[in-house]
Amino acid sequence: MNILIIGNGGREHAFAWKIKQSPLCTNLFVAPGNAGTALVANNIAIAVDDFHHLGAFCLGQKIDLVLVGPEVPLVKGIRDYFEADAQLKNILMVGPGKKGAQLEGSKDFSKQFMLRHNVPTAKAKTFLANETKEAQKYVEGFQPPIVLKADGLAAGKGVVIANSIVEAKTAIQEMLAEKKFGEASAKVLIEEFLDGIELSVFVLTDGTSYVILPEAKDYKRIGDNDSGPNTGGMGSVSPVPFADTAFMKKVEDRIIKPTVEGLKKEGIPYRGFIFIGLMKVKDEPYVIEYNARMGDPETQSVLLRLKNDLVELLVTCAKEELKNYSIEIDPAYAVSVVMTAGGYPEKYNKGDVISGLENTSSHVFHAGTKSANGKNFTDGGRVLAVTGKGRDLKTAISNCYDSVKKISWKDSYYRKDIGQDLLDLQ
Ligand code: AMP
Ligand code: GLY
Repeated sequence: MNILIIGNGGREHAFAWKIKQSPLCTNLFVAPGNAGTALVANNIAIAVDDFHHLGAFCLGQKIDLVLVGPEVPLVKGIRDYFEADAQLKNILMVGPGKKGAQLEGSKDFSKQFMLRHNVPTAKAKTFLANETKEAQKYVEGFQPPIVLKADGLAAGKGVVIANSIVEAKTAIQEMLAEKKFGEASAKVLIEEFLDGIELSVFVLTDGTSYVILPEAKDYKRIGDNDSGPNTGGMGSVSPVPFADTAFMKKVEDRIIKPTVEGLKKEGIPYRGFIFIGLMKVKDEPYVIEYNARMGDPETQSVLLRLKNDLVELLVTCAKEELKNYSIEIDPAYAVSVVMTAGGYPEKYNKGDVISGLENTSSHVFHAGTKSANGKNFTDGGRVLAVTGKGRDLKTAISNCYDSVKKISWKDSYYRKDIGQDLLDLQ
């Protein structure tokens, strides 16, 4: 099969690496890709939301399967664009249509969806731009921390956890009245704070049946011990020791089943990933958010443990045949550490030479990189996700960091504590 992956992050490099191992894959393309995807696939210089050129490319190269990595093309309706075209509609695609992608594209939609289908989640109330005063009055009754969420996509920056009522009021003013995130903050949710441990659960559904992929824990804050601002993700670990059989059964019964059935009941066809961001409060799971895609850097750890042929799995999903499909998971641990450009998530440098890549024994998935004259250069905030494996968590952590320490560039940075909190839980 000829396959096109859309995206340019570490997630897409991991997808490409795994897809390339399948005997079902003939030609593999990534649009636009990075220096890592160029090692296993052909990069195509087309933007992720340039549907016209993506469509023309698919017809020209006789693409059989499209895997959509990031949320932006999904929320903008790449599937709807393909389905509306007489030729493109025959191409298999993994990723929901515009309606289904609202699970991620609108936090108000997803909150209402969860309420309609009795999916446990934090209580929340939505306010519009002309209700700034009401929203500020509403938070006066809250015990901080107070969670404020821009309704739309805000590149991972749309959530503010305010530690005082004053801070919450300022954030409301910026988001609602001053439209800090543009249209994305035309609506804001004010949400109850959930105090617990986070877990990412990944489901691949064809709209009726589903498979559950290995779970992972993401490390979102920039600094060790979860300090400093939020990022796109600084590391991941799979499996997660506290996600035992009993807990995962609660997740499946109370969250996964009602979510998939809810989509079906509402007439929303869905062929793609649902990434469920959970908070475990005491021993109960609550949904923090849905994403209509896989996570980054969770995918890097998850795919290292997935034994199935990924192309076979994706095709089975796209053809709505997941009913009798079973997932095989390697019981080993996988740990991913993201190496960033110094300064990220604020201002950072691009174009620094990356050295030491040839010395590593782990999988190095590229995110913000580009290559020229046989050298690799930094080209984004999150530069690499170094992923190690081991029989147990301790070994996986040490394998991963052995490689991380061999790689560097000017002002490179990484967290030193990925997985440490889970070691204490074991
Ligand atoms: P999101 O952009 O929805 O992934 O939210 C970013 C981060 O904010 C999450 O990973 C959580 O750490 C945190 N968060 C979101 N909602 C809540 C909540 N209701 N209670 C506590 N933390 C939250
Ligand atoms: N690592 C979190 C995300 O992909 O949204």
